[in-house]
Order: sequence, then structure tokens, then C-alpha cells
Amino acid sequence: MKKKKPDYSHLSAAQPIGIFDSGVGGLTVAKEIKKLLPHEDLIYFGDTKHLPYGDKSREAIVGYSTRITNFLLEKNCKAVVIACNTATANALKEVLELVAERVPVIDVINPVAEKVSYEIHNNVGVIATKATVNSGLYKKSIRKHNKFIKVDELATPLLVPAIEEGFKNHPITHAIIYNYLSHSKLRNIETLILGCTHYPLLLDEIKQFYGNRVRVIDSPTIVANQLKIILEKHHLLHSGNPQPVYQFFLSDITKNFEKISKKFFGKSIDLELKVL
Ligand code: DGL
Repeated sequence: MKKKKPDYSHLSAAQPIGIFDSGVGGLTVAKEIKKLLPHEDLIYFGDTKHLPYGDKSREAIVGYSTRITNFLLEKNCKAVVIACNTATANALKEVLELVAERVPVIDVINPVAEKVSYEIHNNVGVIATKATVNSGLYKKSIRKHNKFIKVDELATPLLVPAIEEGFKNHPITHAIIYNYLSHSKLRNIETLILGCTHYPLLLDEIKQFYGNRVRVIDSPTIVANQLKIILEKHHLLHSGNPQPVYQFFLSDITKNFEKISKKFFGKSIDLELKVL
């Protein structure tokens, strides 16, 4: 039987967009959304209390992701952006089952995999958390569109704690990057996907390692574009909202989150504690 197309006519363009991640990583996606869709109100949930998701079981990640999605819908969101690869890789199916009939859901793996697979890349490397690599979702999604691409995935679990500690331009982070990117699995890659939304926060350092030898994919921009396409398709793009509202909920308020969110969204934003 043909799947029924979801009907989102009950939603209105003026409702906010919900975005979530385990911590600061999703802010790299939120920042691009703000840039591309400057009239949209945004509600961000950072599950800092349960961070890192990358070391958790699938069951735990499904539990966190579905609870946060429910919260975002209670907050009247018109779309949910899973700004976390680990949540996408482990809980996308459950999140879709829960809300896809009510609101569009945008994830961070499928749009990137699709884009990469239509461009000519023979050897693609993916660095991501353990739980994302174990799911094999990047390889599956890319090869669904183009089975000639070779995809090598490498778990790089020390990067998220380093980023959450604020170790940017730090010798520890440089050593971790050097160690991971020198791995034999990534030796012949032409393209690198940062398969964790935290990693663009180390983009300069990662690019420095490669010089011009490897193209690093800008996933947050691809995801923001995909969101725009989906909202447009359902007539849910908000325009002419001169003072968009940005709300941030965190399950544990951390100094690093405060620093990065204020850098991206301005000093006047407030962070609200919300344990789910
Ligand atoms: N930012 C996340 C991701 O894209 C989660 C990192 C983590 O909490 O381990 O996978």
C-alpha cells in the first residue's frame, strides 16, 4: 500500500522550529539555520546532563530523543531538527514514528549522505561518535544513492569531551586530531564528513591537518538548506518577523554552552534549566 503523505495544514508559519542535540554541537546547525532563515523563532534543547550520547546504549539514546521531541512539540514547534548524528543514527525511526504525522522531522545524516552521493567522490571518510559509527548509517545512506562510493567510518570519541571542555586551539585537541586523522582507515580519502555536529567547532584545526588535500563537508549548511526546502514545500516558512525569539533549554547549564551560544546568538540570550 502506498504511504499516505503527511498533512501539515494544521501548522502555521509563525510557530517556532525545535532543534536538539546532546550539547553544544547542535549550535553549529542552529547557527546556520539562523543565518539562512533569519525570521524564524528557534527553540534549542541541549541535553548536557546526558552528554556524551556517543557512548550510550541505543535504548538510552531513543529515550532521551523521544522525550526531547515531545517537549519540543509541547512548546508548539512546527518542525523538529535532530541536530545530532548520534540521535539520528540511533533514534530517527522512533522519533519519526512518534511525530512525523504531526510535524516534519529533519535529521543531520540523510541530507548530507544524499548530497555527497550525487557528487563524484570515490573515497569518503566519516568521523563520528562510537554510537554513530556502530549504526553504519552513513555508509548505508550514501550507498543507497551511489553504490560505487567507498565509505570508511572511524569512531573519534575523544573529540566531544574535548570540545565540551572548550579545548579549542589547545595542544590536547591537536594531539587528538592528529592521532585520529592519521588512522590508516582515512589514508586515501578525498572527502571527509564530520559525522558529529560538535566537530565543526574544530573545523579550522581539522582543515589545517589536511591542507588542501581533502574536502571537508559543511554539514550544518546542508541541513539548514534541507530544512528550508521542507518548510517551503509545506508553506511553513516564516517571513517578516523582525524580532525572532531564540530560546535555550539545557538539562545542565555549563559554562562552555553559555560561551558558545552567546557567541552565536548574542549576549542577551537566556539559558533555562530543564530536566526531562
Ligand atoms: N553532537 C552529537 C552528534 O552529532 C553528539 C555527540 C555526543 O553527545 O556524543 O553525534
